[in-house]
This record gives sequence, structure tokens and C-alpha cells, in this order.
Amino acid sequence: MSAPRETVWELKPHSLGKHLVLKEYLKAWLPILGQTQGRILFLDGFAGPGEYKGGEQGSPVIALNAFRQHSARKMITAEVKFVFIEKHEDRARHLEGLLQPLAAELPPGSVEVVRGAFDETLAKELDGLTDAGLTLAPCLAMVDPFGVSDTPMEVIARILAHPKSEIYISVMYEHINRFRGSSEFSDPLDSRYGCDDWRAYVDLDDGRERRRSLFELYKRQLRQAGAEHVVHFDLYDRGQHKYSIFHASRHSRASNEMKAAIWSVNPGGGFAFHGGQTEQLALGVEPNFKPLQDALRREFRGDRWVTIEEVEAFVMSDKTD
Ligand SMILES: C[S@@+](CC[C@H](N)C(=O)[O-])C[C@H]1O[C@@H](n2cnc3c(N)ncnc32)[C@H](O)[C@@H]1O
Repeated sequence: MSAPRETVWELKPHSLGKHLVLKEYLKAWLPILGQTQGRILFLDGFAGPGEYKGGEQGSPVIALNAFRQHSARKMITAEVKFVFIEKHEDRARHLEGLLQPLAAELPPGSVEVVRGAFDETLAKELDGLTDAGLTLAPCLAMVDPFGVSDTPMEVIARILAHPKSEIYISVMYEHINRFRGSSEFSDPLDSRYGCDDWRAYVDLDDGRERRRSLFELYKRQLRQAGAEHVVHFDLYDRGQHKYSIFHASRHSRASNEMKAAIWSVNPGGGFAFHGGQTEQLALGVEPNFKPLQDALRREFRGDRWVTIEEVEAFVMSDKTD
């Protein structure tokens, strides 16, 4: 998909999938961190205009509403702050106008729209968002660019420096695949991966193997940047792989909640999810437990005794879909 030029564009079915998972995940994330932390932050690094041509909600509105309308809102004692970064002036202005009435219901200063680039904005000091030690406050960052530019691994590492922060990143693989040979793509890819090892995989003849290797490398790099769990799933639109989501965190509970969010979204309207561990797994049809049974047998083979907690930790981790 090439980047649209209009302020507001049409919602594609696979974008709806990404939104449904985000909405479900926020239902869990807000009360879990909101009851234990003094301050939490939802950071939308590529916020967009906040709505689509047909009036469908964009990620900033989904996030604000997840908080405003949360059934456990009274129990969320943390100061909840929303920061939306958007590079394009017209989209940032559109977003500001759209959010004004929603933000008016929240304590002053809860919602901020920053006109600027994600990487440059985060590289600067973000007043009021840092904890002692200068890491960002515990945050859920959404990183949702059109292509591959402006998403350096060093910025991702800065977000993941806080042990309670996590990132929801979308990757338009076709974009990488299509432009992988062009020289102006090398720098953005070096920066995105935080290394140049991707060069070893981009020319693999087998397309599936190429994608698998590039994704495995990205997961490895996210781990090196601080993540302990990286849940990965793919979004398909009418049988075609459209893009992939990577959720990076330091906690198995976070990866477990992310998997729960994916499973709870029943695909319809022409898109489907596939898990990152087992490509055959089409989520939302009849649950297929065979891949999990096989994974459990592989993980715990042998004759030693295994505790239920060990089994739970394995199932919650990013090693299963
Ligand atoms: C895929 S759209 C985001 C959609 C939005 N997250 C949603 O789900 O509703 C990407 C947005 O990032 C903006 N953008 C492009 N480059 C950017 C950058 N370097 N920093 C911040 N925003 C950028 C684009 O103008 C566009 O609005």
C-alpha cells in the first residue's frame, strides 16, 4: 500500500483488525498498570488524523475511548497520559479538533498532540514524561508507520528501557519486500533493524523463508533492545498477507494478555489473523489446540516432573500462539 496523501483516508479491512486487537488489549492494560503505577502513558508515535473517511475511529480515538468508557475506570488510580505524535500538519490539526471534546472530560494536560516526527520527538526530552533515571514513564507505545522509515531501533530501545513499558509495532512487510533492492532503502532498514544483518536475507529466493528470516531477525533485535517477549501475528486480507504486528514487552503477563486480545477478536469482514509461531493457525475459526499440544510435548519431553507454574509460564510466554 502506498501512503495516502489526503488528510483522512479509507479504512482497509486489515487496519480494522489492528484496531480491534488494540482496543481489546487496552481493556486489560489500563487496569493492570493503572492500579499499580503512579502514572502511565499511551504513546501513539504515528497517530494519524484520528478517523477514517467513513467516520471509523483511528487509534487515538480508540485509545481515549478505551479509558473514558472502561468498566473499571474508577479503579484506575494512576494519572493516565496520552501523547499523540503526528508529522503531518493537516493530520495533526484534524486530530486536535477531533480530540478536543473527548479531552475536555479528562484532567487538564492528559492529552497532548505533538506535531513532529516520532524519532525526533522521542530523541528530545519529553517534558513531564520521564521517570527518575530518565526513562519514559511505564508506557504502551504504538508504532504504526506507513513504511519503514523513522522507526529506529535505538528509539524502540529507549522506550523499552522502562521495565514496564511495551510496544505494539506494525510492519508493512510488502513495503520492505518490494523496495528491498533499492539503495535509498538501506539506511532506513539499517536503522529499523539496528544492524545490517537483514542484507543476508533480503535476496533469499524462497519468499516464505525470506519473510520468516527477516521477522526472526526483527524479533531478535527487539529482544536485544530490551524485550523479553515478542508476540508476533500476521494480518491477512482476502488471503493476502498485508502486515504483521509485533508486541514487545518484558513480562509474560503482557504477552499473555496480547495473545488473549488477538484470540478474542473474531475476524470477519474479510481479514484474518495468523499466529507467528505456527503459520497454519488461523485465529478465530474453531480453536485448534494441536500446535499448542505439540509445543508442550516438545518443551517438556523427558521424564522429569514439571510444575503447573512452569507449564503456565510457557503457555503465557511468546513461545506459543
Ligand atoms: C498508518 S498511519 C497511522 C494510523 C493510525 N495509527 C491509526 O491506526 O488510526 C501513519 C501516520 O503516520 C504519519 N507519519 C508519517 N511519518 C511520520 C513520522 N516520522 N512521525 C510521526 N508521524 C508520521 C502519517 O502522516 C500518518 O498519519
